[in-house]
Amino acid sequence: MPIEFAERIRRIPSYPVAGGYDLDGMALLASNESPFGPAPAVAEAAVRALHGANRYPDPSYAPLRGGLADRYGVPPERIALGAGSCDILLAAGEALLEPGAELVYAWPAFSVYPHLAAASGARAIEVPLDADARHDLDRIATEVTVATRLVLVCNPNNPTSTALPLEAVERFLAHIPEHVCVILDEAYCELSLTLGDPFASVELLRRWPNLVLLRSFSKVYGLAGLRVGYALAGTDAFRTAVDQVRQPFYLTSAAQAAAVEALRHQDEVERRVVATIAARSTLVDGVRELGLWVAASDANFLWVALPSVDADEVADAEAAVVAGLRDRGVLVRAGAALGGPGHLRVTVGTDGENRRFLDALAQLVDRR
Ligand SMILES: Cc1ncc(COP(=O)(O)O)c(C=O)c1O
Repeated sequence: MPIEFAERIRRIPSYPVAGGYDLDGMALLASNESPFGPAPAVAEAAVRALHGANRYPDPSYAPLRGGLADRYGVPPERIALGAGSCDILLAAGEALLEPGAELVYAWPAFSVYPHLAAASGARAIEVPLDADARHDLDRIATEVTVATRLVLVCNPNNPTSTALPLEAVERFLAHIPEHVCVILDEAYCELSLTLGDPFASVELLRRWPNLVLLRSFSKVYGLAGLRVGYALAGTDAFRTAVDQVRQPFYLTSAAQAAAVEALRHQDEVERRVVATIAARSTLVDGVRELGLWVAASDANFLWVALPSVDADEVADAEAAVVAGLRDRGVLVRAGAALGGPGHLRVTVGTDGENRRFLDALAQLVDRR
């Protein structure tokens, strides 16, 4: 007899992994990582922490909590930490959801969101994006019922890269009952010209105690491999609940040390943000020159529509372009795996990688 697993194991979708082949020398434009490695002082801090790796990490996470509290003016008790923001997201699902409860989010959005309902037995309500690939916040608000426990708003949205201005989010929050937790997933907020700066949404926490801002060190801070995320919440209750459902030592000493040090190098982060935004703009122009539609991007990636084909040919056409790019040394994400068939999601890489992508795409689009 095979091992009998819990029913939810059949329901939980697998995360679409890019890879499975030799990645050496490839332009890795599939996972929205930073092309820049950590600043030398950040790497050194992580290495120093390794020398004490015989001890468990500091379970109070005081230096990191303190660094974030100083930067954002949010009390440390309202700051949740996690092994990537994904860790906090999944813990929030566990803490808030159960059979009979509902969660609402736009779709397509971050590919991990469907996991929350599948793991908890709650019902997911997926609200289609509008014609500009943005969240339709009015419609999301109308889907909130007495059963709703959680609303997820991805701003800027992955995979479409679009963002809504904070005023729109604020108007939306006014329609959501205060017992419903609203997670504003801001993994890419530092790169958004629509949002302005990563401090603006923090102001909303004063007015909306049910609001949680989910943030990541994986993007502009360049620490995806160390897995550090954080959440700034309107009250202590969110942090207490997500800590209750996890093991005490979810963040390694090296990850904590690197994140604390990374917070001290905002000039470097700012330089990277400026470089990424400039490269994004060049990449958008290049894609448009090929005659393709690309969403207005507020993140470190683009959402590109492939030339339209008959409905029954979309999947094959998209797969052919993704495979053609891979054959030319460029790894991107197929839209079909992210809820948006007929699209590519392309991370902004180094100038050389971006050029390589554009040259390869030009060959493939011409041939079709
Ligand atoms: C919108 C969004 N939220 C959260 C995450 C998770 O990031 P991490 O767990 O690396 O912090 C990602 C990663 O790509 C993302 O795109």
